Amino acid sequence: MTTTSPIRLPALAEHSALWEGRARNVLTWRRPFLQGVNWSDPPFATWFADGELNVSENCLDRHVAAGIGDRIAIYWEGEPGDRVQFTYRELLAEVCRAANAFATLGIGKGDRVVIYLPLIPEAIIAMLACARIGAIHSVVFAGFSPQSLRARVDDAGAKLVITADGGIRKGKVTPLKGAVDEALTEAQSVEHVLVVQRTSGERGERLNLETGSAWMPEGVGWRPGRDMWWHEVLDAESSVHEPEAFAAETPLFILYTSGTTGAPKGIVHTSAGYLTQAVFTHSTVFDLRPESDVYWCTADVGWITGHSYVVYGPLANGATQVIYEGAPDTPHHARWWELVERYRVSIFYTAPTAIRTFMRLGRQLADPYDLSSLRVLGSVGEPINPEAWEWFRDNVGGGGTPVIDTWWQTETGAVMAAPGVHQEVFKPGSVQHPVSGVHLSVVRDDGTPTAHDEIGFLVAELPWPSMARGIWGDPDRFVDTYWSRFPGRYFTGDSALVDSDGDLWLRGRVDDVMNVAGHRLSTAEIEATLGAHPYVAESAVVGAFDEKSGQAVVAFVVLKDSQRAAAGEDAHAVTVLRTWVRDQIGAIASPRQILVVPDLPKTRSGKIMRRLLRNAAEDRPVGDVTTLSDTSIMAVISARLAAGHTED
Ligand code: WTA
Repeated sequence: MTTTSPIRLPALAEHSALWEGRARNVLTWRRPFLQGVNWSDPPFATWFADGELNVSENCLDRHVAAGIGDRIAIYWEGEPGDRVQFTYRELLAEVCRAANAFATLGIGKGDRVVIYLPLIPEAIIAMLACARIGAIHSVVFAGFSPQSLRARVDDAGAKLVITADGGIRKGKVTPLKGAVDEALTEAQSVEHVLVVQRTSGERGERLNLETGSAWMPEGVGWRPGRDMWWHEVLDAESSVHEPEAFAAETPLFILYTSGTTGAPKGIVHTSAGYLTQAVFTHSTVFDLRPESDVYWCTADVGWITGHSYVVYGPLANGATQVIYEGAPDTPHHARWWELVERYRVSIFYTAPTAIRTFMRLGRQLADPYDLSSLRVLGSVGEPINPEAWEWFRDNVGGGGTPVIDTWWQTETGAVMAAPGVHQEVFKPGSVQHPVSGVHLSVVRDDGTPTAHDEIGFLVAELPWPSMARGIWGDPDRFVDTYWSRFPGRYFTGDSALVDSDGDLWLRGRVDDVMNVAGHRLSTAEIEATLGAHPYVAESAVVGAFDEKSGQAVVAFVVLKDSQRAAAGEDAHAVTVLRTWVRDQIGAIASPRQILVVPDLPKTRSGKIMRRLLRNAAEDRPVGDVTTLSDTSIMAVISARLAAGHTED
């Protein structure tokens, strides 16, 4: 539970016993464990350490053995409309081929494999094949630049890189192999590059793509000996592969995530504890019924959500899922609703930013589609404002579906807090409580519990099975970043409050907490207020340096298309919104500046990059925009800010 004072925690043995029972229930073990958690060397936990299992066997073989090999594991649809489906039996055969191929290429236990692929079935097959042979995968989102890819390949010391000739996004082909060639140099650890044919060869011809040699930019080409076609290598291999048993703490993957400094952190997750919590939460948080549900999580496998809730959770649960390669607006804005109707999706897990985009476009888009199959909706990645929550439930969910707001992080591996799917009353905007077996608290700077409704720091009190085991190659950074601010507790970096009912509300990253004239203000709170005004589709608030008050509130707002006429001139909308914020929260929260902008700077996973906005608002160089989904938006925003200054 989330606690304010006094903190009551179970004894460690009791806490461990709860998860031990689940680990036995939800996983198939080769060698049963006797040990639960070992927390004798915090913050480096182990779970079930003397047990052995194979993660890929848990996702595939055991379902075939249980007689559900003919169940569809994946309905995959490409952006141009091509479709492929895999039963569990078929997926197993492909993963076996890939595992055999990797072994032939000299990849074994503990070797690192970087996966730089679009959201195509091969990405999942490659991940599971690594797991099957004890290799450690590191998926790098295919939208990252060659420089980012290179930094990750080097940090991980990868021996094998798996990519595709190209990726398809918004109707265009991006030359992924070219990016890999640019990223890799002679001196690197990489011995082989496997290239999936997505946009050239037969597949490209079938799709009518204008490919030519798009994947080979000038001056870089095929390196014989290093580069091989995925299909040629796999075709030569057997579809049978005996999975080896690995110790529970065998590293499963490294996933790089950005920290407060420039260098990305390689978050390390291991096998059995991670899988236990991913499987348990996927099943309970969404009330999964694997025999009848069709599940769809819109995340890319390049992010943690794609790892835990596209690959490991759903497949280990024997679920049937939809995976869509492309952009939600290609070739039309209702593409997602078309897919929900076609596959009769019943559980749909997405991000607030997508929901707000659909809100802005209007509900009429969904009207022609039958969304009645949906019974559970989920949200992750950012605080969801109550308006977006209600819009999602009413317009996508037909009014009756629960919207499960799930809070968690790359570092936590799996969902940590979410409302119960069966509860009768929900609180839009609140994640409500930790999942059973997770213990969170909200504390003050000095570590004492906050009072009700007081914003503080969200921490975890006890180790949990899917917790990060470290930062690759940098144990000190792991200790410093997460475990030193509140000794003995995991510091999430998020602010939160517990209301008088004991329900948990996330209030944004701590670095997004502003201090205006000695008052602590949350960016998320002001954003929620702006979001509650009918004009506003989306907003981002930052605390910018201010001579008078230390920090001042600067708000960037995107107006709803449907409200443009009502809002009138931007200057009028700004006046209305400033008064609104003052009226809703108080004069202290009144923004120094409100800027109407066409869009917000977002990463490709949909996170708003408030840091860039803060830099712009403080007249500093904006910083690296290469990870944004629209790299030009900051220039537009900076120009508007500059124009605003001269008007002042
Ligand atoms: C934020 C994504 C409020 C939070 C799974 C966290 C959320 C960071 C929520 C982790 C939510 C995620 N409500 N905030 N439901 N979910 N966050 O590592 O700030 O990409 O620390 O993991 O996203 O982002 P990450």
